[in-house]
Amino acid sequence: MKIQYTNNQSLKKLNLIPYFETEESIVFNEIKLSKSVFSGKKDSLHLLEMDENLFLFVGLGKEPDYKIIKTTFRRLSAKQILHFKEEAKLFLSADFSNENVEAIISGLWLGTYQLGHYKKDKKQHPLENDDFDFEINSALEVKNTVIKGLKIAKAQLETYHLVDLPPNKITPKHLADWAMQTGKNYGIEVTVIGAEQAYILGLNAFVSVGKGSANESQFIIMDYHPTNAKKHIGLVGKGITFDTGGLNIKTAGMVHMKCDMAGGAAVLGSMLLIADLQLPYRVTAIVPACENSVDANSFLPSDVIGSYSGHSIEIIDTDAEGRLILADGLAYLIKNYNPETVIDIATLTGSSVATFGYECGALFSKNDKLLKQLQKSGDITGERLWPLPLWDVYKSDIESEIADVKNYSGKPVAGAISAAKFLEFFTENHVSWAHLDIAGVSFVDDEFAKTKHASAFGVHLITNFIENL
Ligand code: BES
Ligand code: ZN
Ligand code: ZN
Repeated sequence: MKIQYTNNQSLKKLNLIPYFETEESIVFNEIKLSKSVFSGKKDSLHLLEMDENLFLFVGLGKEPDYKIIKTTFRRLSAKQILHFKEEAKLFLSADFSNENVEAIISGLWLGTYQLGHYKKDKKQHPLENDDFDFEINSALEVKNTVIKGLKIAKAQLETYHLVDLPPNKITPKHLADWAMQTGKNYGIEVTVIGAEQAYILGLNAFVSVGKGSANESQFIIMDYHPTNAKKHIGLVGKGITFDTGGLNIKTAGMVHMKCDMAGGAAVLGSMLLIADLQLPYRVTAIVPACENSVDANSFLPSDVIGSYSGHSIEIIDTDAEGRLILADGLAYLIKNYNPETVIDIATLTGSSVATFGYECGALFSKNDKLLKQLQKSGDITGERLWPLPLWDVYKSDIESEIADVKNYSGKPVAGAISAAKFLEFFTENHVSWAHLDIAGVSFVDDEFAKTKHASAFGVHLITNFIENL
């Protein structure tokens, strides 16, 4: 797609004209719309055909937030696809802020995404065509904002692919190859540790989880280290490419468990975006990637395993595997890189879904400033977070008779909190650590597909957080 910026009011075939809700009638060139026909109300769309031109008036409501604008434009490009042919022109009045424009552009490009990856007759969205002529007529200078909106969408689209493609394609090796290739393209140093080397290094919790799978586990490290780095941030993302539950096999919802690497994918997508935006921060990311499968070699409930931190772990339930690989990811990151702030993100517990549903992720941190900053970024990007406690009264949930710690309390209560307490144990009381449980928000049911699909929750949130440090 080619983008042009003009002051030229001449009309093209498809004209996109967003409006905030107003009390006055709308006048656009020679077109006058009375209030009863179109007033810019949220979710309203007015289509008008004149000669060679099609006018799409897009209602945004009175004070739409970032997510509303983004979703409106995603809907527009996804559902009005037939009107996108070879060219389009977007009209932006001076009422549109940079954030508004960023959301519009990101939304339009996210709308190109289609789930039918393996369909024989899969059609490209016209906007994906290199020759598509996209013209922006804006009262204000928007070039940098447009570029940023496109970069955000690109990283989120990559993340959609990683989560939505099936687990026989998105294996740990595939994630490692993706990281290697992205590292090459964007100047990020990438190291991948295979299962054998991981065992030698003492990443025993990580190795235990992947033991029952024919797809070799991969411990992925991406280190983005610009020369002008102001601070050092560490990220860890759960990369379970499929979660059968292991020998404690899942009896419900297994079919959705390709989404269990969505935290890892959010970290990978964030790294792409952070490097693409050339943010002046060092960011070291770890994605332990494994498949939790059933096999003679699988780890067993009641096994006692080691971990990178040196602590022993009693396995109560092999389905509580995410916390095991994160324990090694966190310990490895802190010991070898010691970043000033550490954030992990994971589809960790059904309990967080039961608590917050599909609109909000669970946030844990004893560092109030960090907690508030993350929440604020989520409010801005439309990826909302709400805190749950890390009080020490919950510590007894992970106390084991036989080992230093156990991976499950055995009780069907406070699951998200006890999982967070387990992770905390492996952070060596890091003063600036936060945990995001995104089990309910990373794989969603919405208007954009008939089946559950990726939301890329975390990509924009993490990037916005780092950008505003
Ligand atoms: N991958 C699941 C959590 C999950 C649930 C992700 C729903 C996405 C949607 C995790 O590994 C898991 O199985 N958690 C168990 C832990 C329990 C056995 C202690 C859970 O939350 O039920
Ligand atoms: Zn599990
Ligand atoms: Zn899992």
